[in-house]
Amino acid sequence: MFYEPKDGHGLPHNPFKAIVAPRPIAWVSSLSTEGVANLAPYSFFNAVADAPPMLMISSSPVPSNEDKDTLTNILNTGEFVVHIVPHAMRDAMNVTSGGYAHNDDEFKRAGLEKAPSTIVAPPRIANAPIAMECRHHVNLGFPGQNGVRGSHVIFGEVVGIHIADEALVDGKLDVTTYNPLARLGYMDYSTVRDVFSLDRPKV
Ligand SMILES: Cc1cc2nc3c(=O)[nH]c(=O)nc-3n(C[C@H](O)[C@H](O)[C@H](O)COP(=O)(O)O)c2cc1C
Repeated sequence: MFYEPKDGHGLPHNPFKAIVAPRPIAWVSSLSTEGVANLAPYSFFNAVADAPPMLMISSSPVPSNEDKDTLTNILNTGEFVVHIVPHAMRDAMNVTSGGYAHNDDEFKRAGLEKAPSTIVAPPRIANAPIAMECRHHVNLGFPGQNGVRGSHVIFGEVVGIHIADEALVDGKLDVTTYNPLARLGYMDYSTVRDVFSLDRPKV
């Protein structure tokens, strides 16, 4: 098949997110201006530079036309923390994706313990294997389509990185110690369990 997204795909579900898969999941904590913690998963997420380390997350519009809490909080406070989701915390991650009220603390909803961050104000998940403290760098509003608002992309600089001691094996980050979760299409996920290496060509 071939389709132009502006004309629709004719399938029961939009295949785009199943095509661009697997996607890493940013489990993002932030603080409202009232100081209430927020936590939510974002799989339109990736690293985009490494010196200094920069990453992006993208917030899709919601039918009510309001911004998602993560976007509102980051634009208001300039700070957030991105965690990597281990397979063992998949259910807690899923709980935090619910559309709760703005000042509803998803750490409490999911029964997650908070730990203070070192540089930024938003707390981090105490037992997450990886937590990256970020400062907002720049944001981009994308055009909408067919009368629906566009997505909003946040770029942030990673200013502090927490790595659990158990995740470092012989000085290298070993993802098989925590098995990061990845997002596929529809309601599907994958888990990183198999790792292999390839040497670069010597030219
Ligand atoms: C695995 C997963 C990935 C998600 N990725 C995104 C995403 O990239 N962008 C987005 O706008 N919403 C995404 N969502 C939906 C948000 O998590 C959901 O709308 C949540 O309620 C937003 O919370 P907030 O308003 O506290 O930011 C995702 C949900 C799940 C379960």
